[in-house]
Amino acid sequence: MKKTVQNLALGVSITCILTACSNNGTNKNESSDSTNTKTTTTAMKTGIQQADWGESDGKKVYLYTLTNKNGAQVKISNYGGTITSWVTPDSKGNKSSIVLGFNELKGYLAHPPYFGATVGRYGNRIAKGRFTLDGKTYKLAVNNNANALHGGLKGFDKVVWDAAALADNTPSLTLNYTSKDGEEGYPGNLKTSVKFTLSDDNELKIEYDAETDKATPINLTNHSYFNLTGDVNNTILNHSLMIDADRYTPVDTSLIPTGELKSVKGTPFDFTTPHKIGERIDQVKGGYDHNFVLNKKGTNLDKVAEVTDSISGRKLEVYTTQPGLQFYSGNFLDGTLKTDDGKPIMQHAALCLETQHFPDSPNEPSFPSTILKPGEKYHTETMYKVSVQ
Ligand code: GLA
Repeated sequence: MKKTVQNLALGVSITCILTACSNNGTNKNESSDSTNTKTTTTAMKTGIQQADWGESDGKKVYLYTLTNKNGAQVKISNYGGTITSWVTPDSKGNKSSIVLGFNELKGYLAHPPYFGATVGRYGNRIAKGRFTLDGKTYKLAVNNNANALHGGLKGFDKVVWDAAALADNTPSLTLNYTSKDGEEGYPGNLKTSVKFTLSDDNELKIEYDAETDKATPINLTNHSYFNLTGDVNNTILNHSLMIDADRYTPVDTSLIPTGELKSVKGTPFDFTTPHKIGERIDQVKGGYDHNFVLNKKGTNLDKVAEVTDSISGRKLEVYTTQPGLQFYSGNFLDGTLKTDDGKPIMQHAALCLETQHFPDSPNEPSFPSTILKPGEKYHTETMYKVSVQ
């Protein structure tokens, strides 16, 4: 049986083979998509399928489909640990993907700005691409004016991860990647794993773990671009946003924090009660691209943000163990990139809520530390939950 669903990035139909989705074991299904390309899908374990998706760096790339009992589907590739689509029903039961993404690997090999990617070794910016640790100055790959952004020229978003053996029967996909000592200028061999779990309540939980053999900064995040309407023709300016943060980290012209933790009170950064994103965006030069200092205390998985959209009736809740949240309103999207069905992805076509430590922490001693030392275990969790109202 075939079921056709809408994909935001495509606006056209993609095909999900429901018999394969519900299969256990390693049954293989050959199918043809709308372009008549043959794809082999393998049901890996309950709720997860693996499909061949091409090659990068001489390694095989796969697309994994996680399906829950309520028919929601998340697709994740081991290329960049990338979430390529998240199909959920709107309040009328119509399904579409709420994240920007492409149907084929070639869309990602062209390096879109971190669409759905796992970002590392250090998400966000490190000023001038340098920092000093234990008396030694490290020079990083610089890729954002004079700064290092999102792990450098070839960050974790552009490497092929290994999918772990899937012996257990949980609806989780674990991807592993070891970043070598000196990669992009960072010290230490860093063993990283990211586990994605889709619950039947449409919660996508992402767990990040890492260990190193030399002290290194680390700041792993996911860079999904959400548009709850499921259609890039609608901007996110009418989405309503709440962020549980009384303070944010103001930035200089190159988006490096000044070091100050500034109150949001009376500013366009006050999302402590819900506000439409478009309401005050004109007062923020360049649009929102700022780290919010979350009010949460400690490292429990607490709710920190909520986005609602009246067109689709969808609600997105963000939970995290992390102290910061980068709210990016898709300012640099300019219509150059197109969805698979040719719709230009215009400015504010989507928004990112990147859970993180504060930008440039390795150079700002007053910020919580991002240094992982040998013998320590890095573990953070973030959960995105989608529901309808
Ligand atoms: C992050 C940054 C933005 C931008 C995007 C990708 O969110 O904070 O400034 O670089 O990634 O375009």
